[in-house]
Amino acid sequence: TGVSIFAAVLSYLIGSVSFSYVITRWVRGYDIREHGSGNAGATNMLRVVGKGPAAAVFILDALKGIAAIGLGSLLSEGQTLMMVCGIAAVIGHNWPIFLGFRGGKGIATTIGVTATLTLAAALIAGAAAILAIILTRYVSLGSLIFAAGLPVMIAVLDYPTSYIYLSLVITLLAFVRHATNIRRLFAGTESKLGSSKPRS
Ligand code: G3P
Repeated sequence: TGVSIFAAVLSYLIGSVSFSYVITRWVRGYDIREHGSGNAGATNMLRVVGKGPAAAVFILDALKGIAAIGLGSLLSEGQTLMMVCGIAAVIGHNWPIFLGFRGGKGIATTIGVTATLTLAAALIAGAAAILAIILTRYVSLGSLIFAAGLPVMIAVLDYPTSYIYLSLVITLLAFVRHATNIRRLFAGTESKLGSSKPRS
């Protein structure tokens, strides 16, 4: 269990590296969390900074999830540690120790985790999410559909039950972090993709 705790803590620390913060702070000289939605994530990077930096953040934040799963698989043969590490990375991304526990919403990192562990489910939930984003231009709605779709698809595709538990934790984390987005969606005040110009 010493090894498991080490792996979980390291995964949390990996998740805590907030690439949207790092890029805006070091390259642009400001804090992404003071602009746009205030979220430290790829969607807000797109809104505030632009497409290239947003794509870079998305990939790097997803890689954190993949790295955490890799770490878990290196240190233990079963699936449990991989799942714990994946969840720890998402928690790190959402509540980063380096940034006063104010981070992102965990979707890119969740995509990294689920694409590694449950690819088919991630692809189907992801396709539904992308469709929703194209139709409504609400990225948050797509994120929520992705998160809600994961446990459903994992159950439908007959993955081991433990994966359903993993995905339920991940779904819960996503909904908790999207609470304000959910309120804005119901109020009709959520910002749409492309509706605000990036900061120059
Ligand atoms: O994954 C984050 C996205 O769903 C919403 O981001 O910045 O619009 O709150 P944001």
